[in-house]
Amino acid sequence: MTQDELKTLVGQAALHYVVPGSIVGVGTGSTVDKFIDALAASGIAIKGAVSSSLRSTERLQALGITVLDAGEVQSLPVYIDGADEIDHAGHMIKGGGAALTREKIVADLADRFICIADESKLVSLLGKFPLPVEVIPMAAAQIARRFEAIGARAVLRAGCITDNGCQILDVHGLQIAEPIAFETDVNQWPGVVTVGLFARKPASVCLLGTAEGVKTISF
Ligand code: 5RP
Repeated sequence: MTQDELKTLVGQAALHYVVPGSIVGVGTGSTVDKFIDALAASGIAIKGAVSSSLRSTERLQALGITVLDAGEVQSLPVYIDGADEIDHAGHMIKGGGAALTREKIVADLADRFICIADESKLVSLLGKFPLPVEVIPMAAAQIARRFEAIGARAVLRAGCITDNGCQILDVHGLQIAEPIAFETDVNQWPGVVTVGLFARKPASVCLLGTAEGVKTISF
């Protein structure tokens, strides 16, 4: 199966976690696009969705799904999103699509984070995928120097302005052995808006697309 077919498979499998009549938290990316398409085609009646990006909002609305503001809801039963890497404890690197800040906000509203990913995303140690960090532009160089000081290399994502008007540093050369501690630490650096480590609130379930079908990993 191609990577695209695996994404379709897990996008479809995620429907099982959608609570009829509820509001669904929706992430961002090519895998989530498959979920949005499957949701629209499924006929499952939902009140609407809270979206983590302008990209997902446009897709949801184009398919007739109502999009609510995060501020209008107090909680969500599930948040469904992809990942750039996920480890065996459900810790994730996210932000390849530059939507990490809104993704973290919507994920925080949810009781359960359902991660949908093809099998290439499952890793033993996070960090091979460059860690996205959203930063206030005036602090970008200063934050890059902090990463250099710990032996990593932060590269400003060219031409990328986030939905929040900020910039992204992609940090290469990390081996993140203690994701919760590292997320907590980088969160404190002045000018960091969001670090693309989702470890303090990890995935609850990962639906992993494999050649043998969808593997469900519960954390
Ligand atoms: C966007 C994300 C995505 O979930 C992540 O990049 C995975 O994307 P894809 O499903 O296209 O592989 O974090 O900010």
